[in-house]
Formats: sequence, C-alpha cells, structure tokens
Amino acid sequence: MTASPAPLSAVFPAESLRAIGRDLLVALGAPDGHARVVADSLVAANLRGVDSHGIQMLSTYIQQLRAGGINVPASGHVEREDGVCLRYNGENGLGQVVSDRCTDHAIRIARALGVAVVVANHSNHFGAGAWWGEKLAREGFIAIVMSNACPAVAPWQGRTPILGTNPLCVAVPGAGGRGKWMLDMATTTVALGKLVHASNLNQPTIPREWGFLDADGEPTSDTAAAQRGKPTPTGGYKGTALATMIEILCAGLSGGAMTTELPVYRTGGDPLGISHSFIAIDPKRFLPPGEFEARMDRLAGLVKASEPALGYDEVLVAGELEWRREAERLRSGIPVPVKLWNRLGEIAAELGVSVPEPIGRV
Ligand SMILES: NC(=O)c1ccc[n+]([C@@H]2O[C@H](COP(=O)([O-])OP(=O)(O)OC[C@H]3O[C@@H](n4cnc5c(N)ncnc54)[C@H](O)[C@@H]3O)[C@@H](O)[C@H]2O)c1
Repeated sequence: MTASPAPLSAVFPAESLRAIGRDLLVALGAPDGHARVVADSLVAANLRGVDSHGIQMLSTYIQQLRAGGINVPASGHVEREDGVCLRYNGENGLGQVVSDRCTDHAIRIARALGVAVVVANHSNHFGAGAWWGEKLAREGFIAIVMSNACPAVAPWQGRTPILGTNPLCVAVPGAGGRGKWMLDMATTTVALGKLVHASNLNQPTIPREWGFLDADGEPTSDTAAAQRGKPTPTGGYKGTALATMIEILCAGLSGGAMTTELPVYRTGGDPLGISHSFIAIDPKRFLPPGEFEARMDRLAGLVKASEPALGYDEVLVAGELEWRREAERLRSGIPVPVKLWNRLGEIAAELGVSVPEPIGRV
C-alpha cells in the first residue's frame, strides 16, 4: 500500500483568515481599523481565487513592517483638490489604508461632479486592484484603478528590470448592483505572486505560458529558475506600453517616484513610494439611470453568445471566473499552502497571536 501524499494546503473559512490577519497587524502596531481594511481586502482576493494577492501578501507586508519600512498609523492627507482632481499624500502608510481614503474621496467627488480623478503618492502595495474597483462599481461608478509597483520587469526589447508589474483594474456596475465585467490584471503575463504561490505549493514547474524568463533571459517553466529570473510584459511591447501608461497616470500625475526611483525590494526598511490612480465615472451623467447597467448586461450576453473555440465549453467575460470561485470558497473555505501557513504560524507564535484550526486539508 502506498502512503497518500501529504496535504499541500490547509483550508480555513474566510472569517478565520480575516481574524488572524487583523490580529497579526494589530500586534505589529496597526490601529484596528487599518488592520481590518488590509485583512478584509487580502482575504477577499483569496475568496476570488486570486491567491497571489491574498494573505500570501501578509508575510511580505510583515517583513516590511518589521524592518520599519511602513508608517503604520498613517492614513495620509489631501495635498491638493481642484474640481474633479485630487492629489493625496499617503505618508508611507499601508497601501490599503491610503486606497480606502482615496476611493472615499473619489466617490464623494464623482457623486457631486460626475467624474473623479484621485491620485496618490508615497503609498505602499494596495493588494488586488479588484477590491478598489468593486468598491467604486458598487456605488454605481465605472472604475479605473491602477498602481505602479517596484521595478521587476524589463521593458520589451530590454534586459534591465525597470517597470513594475503595474496592475490595471476596470470594473463596471451591472443591473441589480452586481458587477458585470471586471478586468483585474497585472501588465505582466501573470502576476509575480502566482510564482510565489506555486513555490509555496512546492510545485517544481509552472506553465510556460506564464511567460517567465530564467536568469539568462531564456523562457522557463522551472519554478526555481523563474524565481531567479523575471516576468515578461503581457502581449510583448503592448504590455510595456500599458505598464508605462500606468506609470504616467499614477506616478507621473501624482508627483511620485517613477520606475527605478522605487526600490527593488519590497521587504526592506526603505519606503516604497508607490503611486496609485483611482478614476470614477458616473454613467448617469451620460445615460438615463439604469440604462448603462442594462447595456452592460447586454454586452456581457453578446460576448458570451460567441461559439466556443475548439477545446473550450464557453466564452468567459472578465471577472466571471473569480465570481464563481468566490461563491465556491464561501461555501467550502479557502485553501492556504501549508508552507505559507507554517510561516504565518511562526510569526503568530513570536507575537503571541493565536492561530485558527483548519476545517480541512487538501
Ligand atoms: N498591487 C500590485 O502591485 C499588483 C501588481 C500586479 C498584479 N496585481 C494583482 O494581481 C492579480 C492577478 O493578476 P493576473 O494578471 O495574474 O490575473 P489573471 O491573469 O488571472 O486574470 C486577469 C484578468 O483576466 C480575466 N480572465 C482570466 N481568464 C479569462 C478567460 N479565459 N476569458 C476571459 N477573461 C479571463 C480575469 O477575470 C481577470 O480579470 C490582480 O488582482 C492584480 O490587481 C497587483
């Protein structure tokens, strides 16, 4: 009889992960409200199946916090407001806290004036763009959310990593308050965190389509080799152009650090100086109330009506996979790689934080 393989992940209900996330951050000096918004947004990414930006990020934030790299109690302040335009200084606070304040400002301004363009400088990693995009879309706005990130990606035809994996999220409201289309993507072929997740699951290989290069610049599907190498821009030069556009609309417009003016490492004591951009557009300023949402439902239907290609059962719209995964993980829990869980457990023990018991193992 052969022994069954050791489980790779422990499964937890979302609330258990939110609780340990909050407790760890509070133990590290974060005010309760700050800890809550960080933990809630990370676990929301796990629920949506975006494990690259779930509680995996917590261990990175904790290293940064312990190195003194984040001004933990800060919430930032408005530097300038002029009509629909607002520039926010994050004061090196937690990226989620800064983004929460900025999206509140975007909602206030777009309600009053139809559009809001809120940019932030001196911030930190804000997690998955979807949390902020969905917050604006729930309020009835078309949301465009972007962030720059520490340099990790060489531009197309280049060798030196100068650009971040700069995420772009576009979320639109659908009828009945439900999201209908939500793009949330890195401007690299996949987010760097997917590689970290594969490593946490001890997967020796990754799909070649993830587009990672080894240290010599050769395409690789070897997890360890990819970790020594770098990701590639999505769609070649178009990915570089998109990442640069994001750099312009975040750092360029906010007066923040651009490309290599940001530090390479996210876990040290140097402030990251990340910039974000939150754009909210009120469709009711263009069309009668409800018409845009109905049109989005129709648009999604038109896309889904396309006949599936060979090897596929259906055509998907952006956001669909994640909404399905969310429904499933709300029922059955969130799998957390044992390797990551052990690391968080060690930190919890050092900080005197209690850890929840898993409800299963897979
Ligand atoms: N804060 C940061 O610095 C930072 C940097 C990079 C990425 N991120 C985050 O990383 C996360 C993951 O990014 P990613 O690029 O790896 O995501 P991904 O490649 O898994 O998905 C990107 C988008 O494509 C859509 N999609 C996936 N499969 C599809 C299909 N078959 N048909 C139609 N649409 C489909 C998804 O719904 C999603 O909107 C995002 O939440 C992003 O915000 C954050």
